[in-house]
Amino acid sequence: RIAYVNGQYVRHADAAVHVEDRGYQFADGVYEVCEVWQGKIVDVPRHLDRLGRSLSELRIDWPMARNAVEFVLHQVVRRNLVRNGLVYIQVTRGVSKRDHFFPPAHVAPSIVVTARSSSPTAAKAQAEQGISVFSYPENRWPRVDIKTVALLPNVLAKQNAKEQGGKEAWYVDADGNVTEGGSTNAWIVTKEGVLVTRPAESGILRGITRAVVLDLVQKEGLTFEERPFSLEEAFDAKEAFVTAATTVVMPVTRLDGRIIGNGHPGSVATRLRELFHTATD
Ligand code: PDD
Repeated sequence: RIAYVNGQYVRHADAAVHVEDRGYQFADGVYEVCEVWQGKIVDVPRHLDRLGRSLSELRIDWPMARNAVEFVLHQVVRRNLVRNGLVYIQVTRGVSKRDHFFPPAHVAPSIVVTARSSSPTAAKAQAEQGISVFSYPENRWPRVDIKTVALLPNVLAKQNAKEQGGKEAWYVDADGNVTEGGSTNAWIVTKEGVLVTRPAESGILRGITRAVVLDLVQKEGLTFEERPFSLEEAFDAKEAFVTAATTVVMPVTRLDGRIIGNGHPGSVATRLRELFHTATD
């Protein structure tokens, strides 16, 4: 395997950044994960738009021109012979002696790109079974709209779910509303057949997969509402699912050990999963 690190393609086993990288010491960096589907990177423009926004919110410069970043993403996918899988990009504020203040202006941001294959068969099997989710108190900072590598709350929430046999955590805020998953956006379909997902304005990352699914939902003429929904409402839902570049549309069949709907992946989630790649860039 090959990785890209600060201007060079290196063996994945030898890929390294300096111990005084701001990402390592302060989680002072941002990232993107894109799906690779049939040899193509899905929704590159939207991911690079969001990367640009995350960088600018943290006042980190682009490590190189946007089209050069795009070129590297494709190179890393190609050099690793990935047809289906993921490509990961991380940009940090760079390497400088440990000090909370921003480093001097001459310090360049660090960039790392990796890619790996994943099995479409395994993903299909998971989607046919659905996943189990466990709720977790919302304990993240309010700027979850920035895709930072500071993911310790997400790590702990997801590990908690895993230790109970789950695959994802759903954060629940002080009002009892589900915000989002540890690494996914959260959706339900009500008994009346209305799709519901939380508005992107607060409490969630503006997921690219979420946006594509919203486009698809409108194209298909399905009824939907962008509004907060509570954990209680989710227990009573006909269906639930999560969206992310890593999962596409993944049905949720259990929540806190309770069965959602009839305990099988719902028809809306299944259809959205089937149609998903017709709506991507
Ligand atoms: N996670 N919410 C959170 C907290 C996320 O970390 C992610 C993505 C999403 C979905 O965003 P998108 O549809 O753009 O992938 C929502 C990535 C995949 C990860 O951390 O692995």
